[in-house]
Amino acid sequence: MAKLGLNVDHIATVRQARGGAEPDPVTAAAIGEMAGAEGITIHLREDRRHIQDRDLEILRRTVKSKLNLEMAATQEMVRIALAIKPEQVTLVPEKRQELTTEGGLDVIVNHKLIADSVKRLKDGGIVVSLFIDPNQEQIKAAKKSDTDYIEIHTGSYAEADTWEKQQHELEQIDTAIKLARKVGLGINAGHGLNYTNIKAITSLGGIEEYNIGHSIIARAMLVGLDRAVRDMVELLKYA
Ligand code: PXP
Repeated sequence: MAKLGLNVDHIATVRQARGGAEPDPVTAAAIGEMAGAEGITIHLREDRRHIQDRDLEILRRTVKSKLNLEMAATQEMVRIALAIKPEQVTLVPEKRQELTTEGGLDVIVNHKLIADSVKRLKDGGIVVSLFIDPNQEQIKAAKKSDTDYIEIHTGSYAEADTWEKQQHELEQIDTAIKLARKVGLGINAGHGLNYTNIKAITSLGGIEEYNIGHSIIARAMLVGLDRAVRDMVELLKYA
């Protein structure tokens, strides 16, 4: 059975729309854990557009499962991570204008910066994951950076608009899983996954943790967060 890392950034996005105190991602994380999420994921962006430093500090004290901090490989973020000590950091690329994370890290071009960040975080006792596309050269570069995990970017699979394109993307992910296992990397996956497209991915096997936000929070607005999380946890039982 694969684990669900519930991404609560979207709860913070709604809060920030009014600049007030609700809804609170801290409460959402607690409800998510009670419904079966085995990790809470948040992205502290440089522009602080949704998750705030306050959320990270409180979640560090309240999350009982595992706190996974997504962040850019900058000096500021590495310093914050080393002070707060989430169980896991997932390094992601970050562009100011993007609506959400677009594409995986280029671990080949940014090898030194990423490898230095991986080392500093691991020396601080934090498990490190790199968010990368399902690309063999990126996986080899990730291995060289000494990361513990990769998170396979499933965005191209999620956006495939024909059956043929979807099968092609699934094959890329399957090949990526096999190579990552062979070189001894742990494997997570995420981005754009929902209650429908999750099924084909879980049937590939080999993925330990799925980080999912948008589809769960969207369903939660209609049926409640407890049920939305339980529905996804149920689908991950077949992984
Ligand atoms: N994993 C990473 C690295 C991400 O950046 C995101 C988006 O914040 C997710 C998973 C979750 O994606 P979604 O909200 O589309 O489920």
